[in-house]
Amino acid sequence: MTIQAATSSMDALTSLSKRRGFIFQSSEIYGGINGFWDYGPLGVELKRNVKEAWWADMVRCREDVVGLDCSIIMNPRVWEASGHVGGFSDPMLTCRQCRRHFRADHMDDLITQSDWVASLCEAGEADAEGHLMLTHAKLERWIRKKGSKLAKGMALVKDADTHLDGVAKCVGEAPRALRDVLVALGTPGLPADSDPLPCPFCGGDLTAPRQFNLMFKTHIGAMEDHASTAYLRPETAQGIFCNYRNVLDSYRIRPPFGIAQIGKSFRNEINPRNYTFRSREFEQMEMEFFCHPSEADTWYTYWRDLRYNWYVQLGLHSEKLHLRDHEKDELAHYARACADVEYDFPFGTSELEGIANRADYDLTKHQEFSGKDMHFFDDQTRERFVPFVIEPSGGVDRATLAFLTEAYCEDEAPNDKGEMQTRTVMKFHPRLAPTKVAIFPLVRKDGMPEAATQIYEACKKAGIVAFYDEKGAIGRRYRRQDEAGTPFCVTVDGDTVSDGTVTVRDRDSLQQERLSADDVPAFVARHLHSE
Ligand code: GAP
Repeated sequence: MTIQAATSSMDALTSLSKRRGFIFQSSEIYGGINGFWDYGPLGVELKRNVKEAWWADMVRCREDVVGLDCSIIMNPRVWEASGHVGGFSDPMLTCRQCRRHFRADHMDDLITQSDWVASLCEAGEADAEGHLMLTHAKLERWIRKKGSKLAKGMALVKDADTHLDGVAKCVGEAPRALRDVLVALGTPGLPADSDPLPCPFCGGDLTAPRQFNLMFKTHIGAMEDHASTAYLRPETAQGIFCNYRNVLDSYRIRPPFGIAQIGKSFRNEINPRNYTFRSREFEQMEMEFFCHPSEADTWYTYWRDLRYNWYVQLGLHSEKLHLRDHEKDELAHYARACADVEYDFPFGTSELEGIANRADYDLTKHQEFSGKDMHFFDDQTRERFVPFVIEPSGGVDRATLAFLTEAYCEDEAPNDKGEMQTRTVMKFHPRLAPTKVAIFPLVRKDGMPEAATQIYEACKKAGIVAFYDEKGAIGRRYRRQDEAGTPFCVTVDGDTVSDGTVTVRDRDSLQQERLSADDVPAFVARHLHSE
């Protein structure tokens, strides 16, 4: 997909999302806040359904996994033991001109999304292999026009008379790799101890990378000093490790078993981006599965496959979903194996969930730092061991974004006059759809609203999220529900009042069938778990 196609398909999704109340920018009336998002009436139901599907499949339907709900702020020693205080950081570059910060390992992506780089490519001759050819004249024209507006921080732009000839010699003889051209443009006036690439925002010079810890700090109590420093948790997993002994001692369970948790996590991401994909506040659904070391490889394979299939069963069955095993050199030093469930978003292929064999690293670290014994004593085999941990760790917001992306579809459907028209439809799996059924009286008279209200009430009583709508032409009402992703629309018409039947329209196939009004709740409930 080209950058333009990716941007426009992401734009279509974000605009529907705002218009129909899936996702809003946080604090929007104050200009928003970077990296924070709110879920609207449809979005909150969708996200809740994702979490409920996970909880049902990972905890309630299993005998070997129990749930937990831990506090967000924990004793700061937890984060020393886990390695987050010392090592949970990303390499950060800072622009000396505009003072913006960038993740060093995201620079290649950031630079290709930069406005000034795009305009430079337009000004020169860019080819599909990522080469750019800039003659002296074209470079000069760009500096005097677009460059002077878009790349104000660049020494070459600020003082073209001094630097232009030298730079044009380096970039103008033949097509050169875009990166090399950008480095050459940023080189004049570059202080020592700088990154070679110019700032993606203003073209200014960037500092060399420095490590930036991603944990949000806060203070407990009245004094704001070192002793009162605490952190918002950057992952839910540590709350599980800290309660592993409590669960073992209080609940009749023994390895192999898992502890699951869904909850908010916070990371002060340097460049939150790609909509909700990389946020500063997000939710995780994590499970730590404790087992005998000799069984860890088997459980790892089991969870890796099961977690991938979970996404498939909930509707990510296109070729856009992948299960990628990490290469040995990608693994954290303590991890024995790791795989990512990845999805091809319009902005690139990115991770939804990681499944890792973490060995006994976490429990051993907490044993060391807390002084508490983390061994399990098996009274049948008389063996004492620190369990190995298999961790499937997913992001609720990322899964929700993938389900939204996959569901978004434009196809043809007949309007009220029977003419085919393009419609936008969200083809969610019925289990995830925010509203399961919409009920419409054909007209607002002849007993139809009363009959429709009865069906609506019966659905609500059966625990089915239903929506009642009597306003506008029937075709428009269908369209609104298509955009909301409602799998079924029930229309009450003249026959309903005489023979008690209604029309049920299927969102995806557009097929209509007639059934008894009394059967609507059971019909919808039956379809919620279908493929
Ligand atoms: N306990 C392991 C752990 O936290 P991780 O890969 O850092 O591993 C797990 O995070 C999952 O949490 C990711 O696969 C992703 O779905 C989600 N996640 C992580 N950072 C995120 C962010 N900034 N915004 C949204 N989701 C995020």
